[in-house]
Amino acid sequence: MKFQDMPYTDRYAQVMDIMTSRGLLLGAYDKDGKPNAMTIGWGSIGSIWGMPVWIVLVRPSRYTYGCIEHSDCFSVCVPGRDLATACAICGSKSGRDSDKLATAGLTAQPGSIVHASIISHCPIVYECQVMHRNDIIPSELVKQLQEGPYASGDYHRLYYGAIVAARVADDVAQRLG
Ligand SMILES: Cc1cc2nc3c(=O)[nH]c(=O)nc-3n(C[C@H](O)[C@H](O)[C@H](O)COP(=O)(O)O)c2cc1C
Repeated sequence: MKFQDMPYTDRYAQVMDIMTSRGLLLGAYDKDGKPNAMTIGWGSIGSIWGMPVWIVLVRPSRYTYGCIEHSDCFSVCVPGRDLATACAICGSKSGRDSDKLATAGLTAQPGSIVHASIISHCPIVYECQVMHRNDIIPSELVKQLQEGPYASGDYHRLYYGAIVAARVADDVAQRLG
């Protein structure tokens, strides 16, 4: 795949659509330099502090949480249709227990700017540097959310990552469908 730089707002609707269906892959390195990828279904792209930002939500129970706490960086990789099974694996197995990437048939490479694992074969990639983090405040949640996604606690930490690179592959249309 050949990549070129992309304005971070390009293909916004398509990226959100994929995020809420098969999910996106959140890449990060653990403290020993092992690459990890976790499927995410929640997140947001926007402009904060005069910079493009990805906000991702990661529960403390995830192996990825420790990875981002350690590295202060992450990638958001948009998988093509061919990676639907890999997304299901990355969304159900933990990098804490096994070589998840190998199980999912994925490989990773280092980011060009930040220290985050970039998942190969994903036709859109964002590299992000953590600028801020905050935790969901249980007492500020509406009842509906206290009883829904947080019925068992494990309140997400929100990571605000400045998008320092956004790239798209030349065959993106064919891969995303
Ligand atoms: C479609 C889908 C979306 C998900 N979205 C999120 C999310 O936004 N935040 C989160 O913390 N976990 C989310 N998960 C769960 C994690 O991907 C899952 O627990 C994963 O095994 C964690 O991997 P890790 O322990 O290697 O970090 C999602 C799972 C799926 C299948």
